[in-house]
Amino acid sequence: MAKTKTTFFCQNCGAQHSKWQGQCSSCKQWNTIAEEVIQKAEKITWKTSENTSKKHARPLRISEISTQAEARLNTKNNELNRVLGGGLVPGSLTLLGGEPGIGKSTLMLQIALQLPYKTLYVSGEESAQQIKMRAERIQPISENCYILTETKTQNIFRNIEEIEPDIVVIDSIQTLHTDHIESTAGSISQIRETTAELIKYAKETATPVILIGHITKDGNIAGPKILEHMVDTVLQFEGDRNHIYRILRANKNRFGSTNELGIYEMQGSGLREVSNPSEILISKNEEDLSGTAISATLEGMRPLMIEIQALVSSAVYGTPQRSATGYNAKRLNMILAVLEKRAGFKLGAKDVFLNVTGGITVDDPAIDLAVAAAVLSSNIDIAIDKRLCFAAEVGLAGEVRPVTRVEQRILEAEKLGFTSIVISKYCKIPKNDFHINIIKVAKVHDVVHHLFG
Ligand code: TYD
Ligand code: MG
Repeated sequence: MAKTKTTFFCQNCGAQHSKWQGQCSSCKQWNTIAEEVIQKAEKITWKTSENTSKKHARPLRISEISTQAEARLNTKNNELNRVLGGGLVPGSLTLLGGEPGIGKSTLMLQIALQLPYKTLYVSGEESAQQIKMRAERIQPISENCYILTETKTQNIFRNIEEIEPDIVVIDSIQTLHTDHIESTAGSISQIRETTAELIKYAKETATPVILIGHITKDGNIAGPKILEHMVDTVLQFEGDRNHIYRILRANKNRFGSTNELGIYEMQGSGLREVSNPSEILISKNEEDLSGTAISATLEGMRPLMIEIQALVSSAVYGTPQRSATGYNAKRLNMILAVLEKRAGFKLGAKDVFLNVTGGITVDDPAIDLAVAAAVLSSNIDIAIDKRLCFAAEVGLAGEVRPVTRVEQRILEAEKLGFTSIVISKYCKIPKNDFHINIIKVAKVHDVVHHLFG
């Protein structure tokens, strides 16, 4: 037995330390360092390139490399294909993250069942019977889909050699363990090592591998950030578990853009692709309510449509109340002052309450115009068309200012079924083949005219 060797890993960033310390010197997080047992043993990972006959690596001139061989594998799922940028790239590693119960296993099994290729679905979470029961709910059972309930990578590779699958799905990366490291499954060193073995296998045989990953309570993929660096594509499956719609996005994509999103509906028989997203919005709106406006905002790199609600009423007490949830209260006061001074609305003696629905906090200035529109709509009690959205900043002179990445916001609004978007007149849009109606305004006053005549 070799001498046991332990190292300290930061559970947040994956940095390695020689001793325990309260704060990680790399990412500055507190109480994230844990001891893990690593044992150096002789490496018997995925067979080395000498005995793999499929691909043999040697340096090539870039002009000699044919891209035809890299043709993408069509997943037969249009939403997934779109998010991936046209299909799975041979030899790529894709990581699919999402909250428990959101439908990650369902989505991957459904894809494994649909594909005309030989797929291997490795599960460390459910028994073969449970997977069969799920498969029966989803679709007719495919002859090409193999199920393996195994968590040790060495055994998985042994089966892979025998079956020679065209696609491998791992559910989930946190349940895998390799013989070379002695820490428990799901620890930093296990995740890193098992992922590295899978990458080696994927690259050498040009087989796409899809990993399912758990996420932590603050929404990040459990394990080190390094996992996200190692894989080629990171997909995020999100949505409210109590709600039937699910959104699939790419947070990182080496082979395509991260602007695309896929929408699914969870049904009794698996996930249905929603090709016309406007049905989501139309089904939700029974009646027109005044005081709501929808804004196309960006959360980090990702576009997001949010609803803003305002309530304007006569102040009961001497001093009017202003309160904002999810939006900067000072900025609300500024917008009210602009509306008063530049658009002639008497809001000085009114209570104004503002709420960003869904409990999220936004500090993107692009929601200013939607805030102003919601306030005006509540003030005069006329509803704004639900298929209209806003993306612009409001300046102190009452001017409507351009915002960053407006094209991405327009695309998101179009994808989600909006018919019109209000943006600043000064926005530069490089391409102009959108199907959505783009309304350009220069001043807050113009918006009032446009909305309420
Ligand atoms: P699952 O794929 O197990 O989630 P994850 O792998 O992300 O943890 O999804 C489970 C949920 O999906 C569960 O609450 C039941 C629901 N579901 C359906 O509504 N219809 C179906 O056909 C299937 C298979 C699951
Ligand atoms: Mg699962």
